[in-house]
Amino acid sequence: MKKALYLLGLVAAMSSQEALASWLEEERPLAVKKLMANISPSGTTRGTVIASPSRANPDYFFHWTRDAALTMDAVLDLYATAGTQTDRDRYKSAFFDYVRLSRAQQNSRAIAGLGEPKFFVDGNPYDGDWGRPQNDGPALRAITSIRFARVLLTEGRADFVRSDLYDGRLPSLSLIKKDLEYVAAHWREPSFDLWEEVRGDHFYTRMVQRKALLEGSKLARDLGDPWAADWYAAQAKELQAALAQHWNPQKGIIVPTLNRSGGADYKTSDLDSAVILAVLHGYADDGFFGFSDPRVLATLEKQATAFRNAFSVNRAPGFPGTAIGRYPEDRYGGIDFNGGNPWVLTTLAFAEIYYKAAQGQAAGVRSTWTAKADEFVARVQRHAYPDGALSEQIHRDSGFMTSAPDLTWNYAQVLTTYAAKEKLKR
Ligand code: NOJ
Ligand code: NOJ
Repeated sequence: MKKALYLLGLVAAMSSQEALASWLEEERPLAVKKLMANISPSGTTRGTVIASPSRANPDYFFHWTRDAALTMDAVLDLYATAGTQTDRDRYKSAFFDYVRLSRAQQNSRAIAGLGEPKFFVDGNPYDGDWGRPQNDGPALRAITSIRFARVLLTEGRADFVRSDLYDGRLPSLSLIKKDLEYVAAHWREPSFDLWEEVRGDHFYTRMVQRKALLEGSKLARDLGDPWAADWYAAQAKELQAALAQHWNPQKGIIVPTLNRSGGADYKTSDLDSAVILAVLHGYADDGFFGFSDPRVLATLEKQATAFRNAFSVNRAPGFPGTAIGRYPEDRYGGIDFNGGNPWVLTTLAFAEIYYKAAQGQAAGVRSTWTAKADEFVARVQRHAYPDGALSEQIHRDSGFMTSAPDLTWNYAQVLTTYAAKEKLKR
């Protein structure tokens, strides 16, 4: 009791800035724990990253290629900053498990081949109806595996890199090269978007494909595969031209999908937070559609306004910032299709991109953008369970956590948001 009162006084005395820093800081160890608990949980094949422990309403007890890659990328961040050898070993062996499983999945009889979006927890490809292929998956898997290859190369494990990750052969038997060959050969084909609903050409998918090919080109060159290095770079360049088409000057936004050829047709606003995730996951550090690109931030602001109008929880007095969904016309509520909700990971993504955009700006801009970012974090804090647990969605009217509990991707997003804010302090 005494302690609680003391804390209460302390919180009141702190500026909201400090309270916020402490929420992300408090959330971080929980996010690490919950994220790690969703990798190879009991009853699954080693290397499986479940999207959520929820087995019904909704059933997310599967390994999605996308969610797994984003999660394992956060594991690489953890590996880089781990304080003890025990932790380092744990994160590294989790990644080796992921590599082993991913290679088996690449070679499985999946309906969509390498574009297969989802696997059973025994490692086998899902074989029911689904929006497939989803061609962001192999690109994301390549991006994170290339990072792992870089780590291993600095640690003197070139043997494993050349045998299991990048063999420089055609056809390839190795994880990264197989994915890069797939991306380079199929990026022109339509696929389903990251929300698994719309068939067409997507800004998100194209951004991560471009990044995979650029990073892959560098790796290929370093490993003595110059022909492939040139081929991947040439495809990346063509992707760049295709990506530029997504900027719509009349609307003043980056549109999420061009040439829609199937799936959901009701996203009439063309406002989709996938565009923001595209920059976070696909920016290749070369000035092309970067964090502070005026087109990106203009799109973000228009989206934020649309979400403010779309959800009644955003009109409730006394709540900081704005809760962000997938897109305003969304119908998917997790257990029904009666209306979409704000999502935790998209709201935190808006914070992360503002922290990253603020990096390197003049003092005024920097503090304005940091404050905007802080508001999105504060928003999520207000809707989180008291113990910090995070479900996929925030109910649009009640503000309570809803849909899949302990969504793994949420915790990865907490870690990258935290890291972006920390970097800004340095
Ligand atoms: C489940 C998917 O995971 C979700 O993104 C989508 O909105 C619904 N299916 C409808 O296709
Ligand atoms: C639905 C989301 O739309 C999709 O992006 C995600 O991969 C799955 N849920 C699993 O988390």
